[in-house]
Amino acid sequence: MSHVLLFILIIFTFFTLSSQHLPFINHNFIIRRPDLRGEDGGGPGGKWTLLHNSVGISAMHIQLLYNNKIIIFDRTDFGPSNLTLPEGKCRFNDAKMKRDCTAHSILYDVPSNTYRPLMVQSNVWCSSGAVHPDGSLVQTGGYLAGEKKIRLFTPCNNDTCDWVELLQDLTVKRWYATNHILPDGRVIIVGGIDAFSYEFFPKNPNKHLNMDVHELPFLKETTDPVELNNLYPFLHLMPDGNLYIFANNRSILFDYVNNKVIKEFPVIPGEKRTYPCTGSSVLLPIRFAAGKAGESPLVEVMVCGGAMGGAFFKSEKGIFDVASTTCGRLRVTDPNPQWVMEDMPMPRVMPDMILLPTGNVFIVNGAQKGSAGWEAGEEPVLQPVLYMPDEPYPAQRFVVLNPSTIPRMYHSAASLMPDGRVLVGGSNPHELYNFTGVRYPTDLSLEAYIPDYMDQGYNSMRPTIDTVGALDNEISYGQEFSIEFSVELYRPDRGITVSMVLPSFTTHSFAMNQRLLVLPISNLEILSSMSFRVTVHAPPTTNLAPPGYYMLFVVNDGVPSHSVWIRMK
Ligand SMILES: *[C@@H]1O[C@H](CO)[C@@H](O)[C@H](O)[C@H]1NC(C)=O
Ligand SMILES: *[C@@H]1O[C@H](CO)[C@@H](O)[C@H](O)[C@H]1NC(C)=O
Ligand SMILES: *[C@@H]1O[C@H](CO)[C@@H](O)[C@H](O)[C@H]1NC(C)=O
Ligand SMILES: *[C@@H]1O[C@H](CO)[C@@H](O)[C@H](O)[C@H]1NC(C)=O
Repeated sequence: MSHVLLFILIIFTFFTLSSQHLPFINHNFIIRRPDLRGEDGGGPGGKWTLLHNSVGISAMHIQLLYNNKIIIFDRTDFGPSNLTLPEGKCRFNDAKMKRDCTAHSILYDVPSNTYRPLMVQSNVWCSSGAVHPDGSLVQTGGYLAGEKKIRLFTPCNNDTCDWVELLQDLTVKRWYATNHILPDGRVIIVGGIDAFSYEFFPKNPNKHLNMDVHELPFLKETTDPVELNNLYPFLHLMPDGNLYIFANNRSILFDYVNNKVIKEFPVIPGEKRTYPCTGSSVLLPIRFAAGKAGESPLVEVMVCGGAMGGAFFKSEKGIFDVASTTCGRLRVTDPNPQWVMEDMPMPRVMPDMILLPTGNVFIVNGAQKGSAGWEAGEEPVLQPVLYMPDEPYPAQRFVVLNPSTIPRMYHSAASLMPDGRVLVGGSNPHELYNFTGVRYPTDLSLEAYIPDYMDQGYNSMRPTIDTVGALDNEISYGQEFSIEFSVELYRPDRGITVSMVLPSFTTHSFAMNQRLLVLPISNLEILSSMSFRVTVHAPPTTNLAPPGYYMLFVVNDGVPSHSVWIRMK
């Protein structure tokens, strides 16, 4: 009997002690198998791998393209980078240098983990972008000589493609603006410092230039004196075709066609959420009903992290306020939407929020104190967290994941890769690519976060997409199409989901254009012991899924396949 008691005491002591050593802040959040709903244990938390100690530039802006290459760039006016341009190429008369023969942009190839230098002509610092339906990156604005520029990057399968700068300019200078791809294939460019307006690319050829820019007073109203706090607004395209726009602590539903605010939502409780009080935002996974083009699905926006107004200027005096610990969810499509607030396991300013193929949200990068800006953030948050939006109990929605060793402060970025990993890079690029003299120096490395679902232990559960039943993988709106996949271990009670993800243009903690749709399944056939055919419905409208290239994933009980690119046309 006393042995039993002793045993219980030892177990009790063990759990009490070990729970005190959990490496994160709020002990109410338990570590469990991330992204997998199964009952068996499994190693939680995922892994980090260093892809490159240095790619020669800092990953400030990132865009994945449909040929599995990722365009990365920082800025042109910070002096020579650590990467030389090829073939004796140079740029002349930049704000910083008479002659600069180094690269400020690279094209990173995901499968081979290699990269090549690109030549961007004018200053792309704090610019914005979106991918055109044909797969080209449309990238706009920046600083000084770059502030009105429109640049294109069209993917190619040899090594010849590079940045092309258009002769036509934006109508207004745009520095810290946000872009979004629209249902008709145009790109809208919203805001920027002192730019309380929006415009489109391509421009309407029938309109006089001045009529091509449209006022947006909401951007003026949300500008705080001096600190601003409303830059890089969060934009999300809604199923009714309107834009959700969030800036500072306010948000609106906006009809950009008729230049009309349709609705203003309640102010988000707590901190401010946009630059330099930088938080982040995603549109949670969109689930729509099959074949009901007229019916609008429920759509929810999530905003996480940020800082108290004043944090930026306090940081200049050496005072670093604790960042926001909250996230808010707003069901934008409700008749009377209200913010539902939740606590993250730790505070975070400058988070990146990346949607994983499973529909969960990966929150990474940033700091626990201060604000965005060089030397304005303190106490890097090395641990990402996973947010599972469908968990019924709020306390179980967040999972703290394994930490990186590299602080990712101001100007860091992240992007989902086609195989389900997350690319993470950049931090605090300093003038002249100076690597000394500050607490968080210039960082030129690239890392990958490898979610737990990629563990070899789940190989038997990992589906492989064999074929997509559509000519050239081109899908029309509302079309039913099939996907043949193979998997060793399929349990009908656990289920298959199919998701499609529009890759984002990520910078300054916001993944522009990011959206994930869960496709309704109409049939699942067993072809043989390990091969299957699932029939799904494509999104019925361009409002739900603007035209362009998407990554298609088959997810088996929380374990996603590598993606296959499809094109919505
Ligand atoms: C960049 O180049 C400088 C000068 O050659 C060198 O000292 C530094 O180590 C390099 N840094 C990285 C991260 O490659
Ligand atoms: C490279 O590919 C592009 C189109 O993708 C083509 O126009 C160009 O001619 C190719 N260049 C070479 C050298 O093969
Ligand atoms: C929202 O921000 C404005 C502008 O800075 C501020 O005056 C207001 O108090 C904030 N509202 C709330 C509820 O925090
Ligand atoms: C790098 O920055 C530090 C701190 O500002 C400064 O002391 C140092 O001189 C700089 N180094 C170079 C090479 O500019």
